[in-house]
Amino acid sequence: MLKRPRRNRKSQSIRNLVQETIVLPEHLIYPLFLLEQFNEKIEIASMPGIYRLGLNPILQEIEICMNLGIQSFIIFPVVDEMKKDQLASYGINKNNFYLNALKEIKQKFPECCLITDVAMDPYSSDGHDGYVENGKILNDKTLEILVEMALVQAETGVDYIGPSDMMDGRVLAIRQALDSNGFYETGILSYTAKYASGFYGPFRDALDSAPKFGDKKTYQMNPANANEALLEMELDISEGADILMVKPALSYLDIIYRLKSHSYLPIAAYNVSGEYAMIKSAGLKGWIDEIKVRDEVLLSIKRAGADMILSYFAKEWASDFKNKKS
Ligand code: PBG
Repeated sequence: MLKRPRRNRKSQSIRNLVQETIVLPEHLIYPLFLLEQFNEKIEIASMPGIYRLGLNPILQEIEICMNLGIQSFIIFPVVDEMKKDQLASYGINKNNFYLNALKEIKQKFPECCLITDVAMDPYSSDGHDGYVENGKILNDKTLEILVEMALVQAETGVDYIGPSDMMDGRVLAIRQALDSNGFYETGILSYTAKYASGFYGPFRDALDSAPKFGDKKTYQMNPANANEALLEMELDISEGADILMVKPALSYLDIIYRLKSHSYLPIAAYNVSGEYAMIKSAGLKGWIDEIKVRDEVLLSIKRAGADMILSYFAKEWASDFKNKKS
């Protein structure tokens, strides 16, 4: 035998030497759920270890994460049902608690990378990402609302606007509005290939944002399609996106790989709530080794081509990573 691949697996030092993929804390983006009540902290039943947090505990959480090496955060607002309406008007209300919190976070941690969510569903009485009329999601009417939402968010000084709605033409509409209002430095992290997935269940619990009727299949993508992700990629690139995202991550590693191979823009992958819940719950039952599976999953997403990963595991992972090093 001339070739014995096992020689390169002989010891930990050799395995480290030939390791092709590595996850670092600075590759992770930690999603946080923001509550209006300043000091409140409520665990999400379907996501053990993940909380909805008021501004005060969120600032503490960000500080802890920054000390663990996590530098990037994406914030989602948990909006009271009373404030929701058909036009998602609370989302563009300049005094809403989400915008105030973004401003405070950015002031307190100017060095962190802060990402927003642009879509109607957290504020919509219909629970859809777009504007609903007679049971239909109207694309172009939605764009007007998304643009306004992006502008009030950009004003807070955040680094990236994150359109998660999957309307056609939204990256261009948002980019043009940002530029014509002087927000040249505000980037767009686009949910380029976002699939109509069953893996979002726990997130919708967290925000209480499940659609009140129907599903999201007329705007989110069919899980059967891969070429369509390349079409969405082409559009997002030409419309001015700065980062392209694939969501969910785990059942879509091939899509991450395709986007990485076909574009020069950085690729993000969203290790979504259902992926977290599956590993957490099986781990808590003792059916799998949670830490091993978690690390393997993050590594596989990175190996598939993601430059960065949005994950609810970020904090725990970074804490274990720090302990391993010291
Ligand atoms: C909606 C949105 C969703 C997620 C992020 N933004 C859910 C949905 O499309 O219904 C899901 C994230 C997760 O599951 O962790 N704009």
